[in-house]
Amino acid sequence: MPFSRPLTHGVVYRYDDFVYQLGDELTKTLGPFDLDKVTQGDCLELIPNLPDKSIDVLVTSPPYWGQRLSNGTGTENDPREYLNFLENVFINFLPKLKPQGIIWINLGDAYNTPVNWRLDDRQYSTLGADKNGLSDDNSAYTKPRAKRKAFIDVDNSWLSYGNLLALPNRLVISLSERGYVYRGEVIWRKKNPMPEGRCRRPHRQHESVFLLAKDDAHSFRVAPPVGSVWDISNEKIDGPVHFSRFPEELPRRCIDAYGHLGSNTIVFDPFSGSGTTGIAALKLGCRYIGFEIDQVQVDASNNRIKMISENDAPLLRLASNAG
Ligand SMILES: C[S@@+](CC[C@H](N)C(=O)[O-])C[C@H]1O[C@@H](n2cnc3c(N)ncnc32)[C@H](O)[C@@H]1O
Repeated sequence: MPFSRPLTHGVVYRYDDFVYQLGDELTKTLGPFDLDKVTQGDCLELIPNLPDKSIDVLVTSPPYWGQRLSNGTGTENDPREYLNFLENVFINFLPKLKPQGIIWINLGDAYNTPVNWRLDDRQYSTLGADKNGLSDDNSAYTKPRAKRKAFIDVDNSWLSYGNLLALPNRLVISLSERGYVYRGEVIWRKKNPMPEGRCRRPHRQHESVFLLAKDDAHSFRVAPPVGSVWDISNEKIDGPVHFSRFPEELPRRCIDAYGHLGSNTIVFDPFSGSGTTGIAALKLGCRYIGFEIDQVQVDASNNRIKMISENDAPLLRLASNAG
């Protein structure tokens, strides 16, 4: 059982609306899935097995189009196929969200150009201590990337060469036309953005995080208010490398913004990666379900989550606050 600690039975600790009676068994499963675990598989196939109205907060960063090599979404040649997959994931998920639930989608955009990052490009970068690029071994230069080609369709002008495809915006518009309420956009301003080569456009130093819900009466923290620009640095973790990880502070803020924390709050990430959303959820005293297609990441994130369950004790903190 997660959070098992030698606490006094029969005492009730309160944290917002969350009430936990010591001696109660924490539920271990949600439908066929283990709680506080990442399950291996394709999220589009697994989502229908989640119980209806069971998830409070979804926080996720789906793969970006044309940036990856391995299994799963993001490798499609046609960005419309990619968008179609993501739309299906979130539309299939909608019945699984509690009526008061919220979803946060962090998604980067793509230009309709080939991705061919060259080490020489670092001479155009203004990053690094001496403002002329990061060190040669920085993951920005060593990350294995797909050799993405531009996808041109002469009958669709948005699929012309060089166009910023507006994929996150297209996704959000489509979801709000198919049952979601679009509630806001947060700008994640990166303190250490990826360097970019020589180009006649702004170097990107931010990503968007979109907030959607089932109903405009969803739960949300109102005091202190949640701002729309978040300054967050990237961070490194132990274990197998995950090149597209978001910093723990990002899902932490997303979950916290829900306004209801505790073991009744179920957090879900369908593209769980290295398990960052799960770690943030458990540290906030919530429960977690993750889906991830890559078995190496599944094993690594389950180890990380187990360590948090054993070493971090939200209930112990509550006990000392209550005492
Ligand atoms: C951008 S990464 C997520 C990183 C994560 N937020 C973290 O901090 O580690 C996207 C993840 O989605 C996984 N993925 C891709 N297609 C998937 C699919 N169809 N179902 C489940 N996971 C998938 C990839 O293996 C990758 O780990």
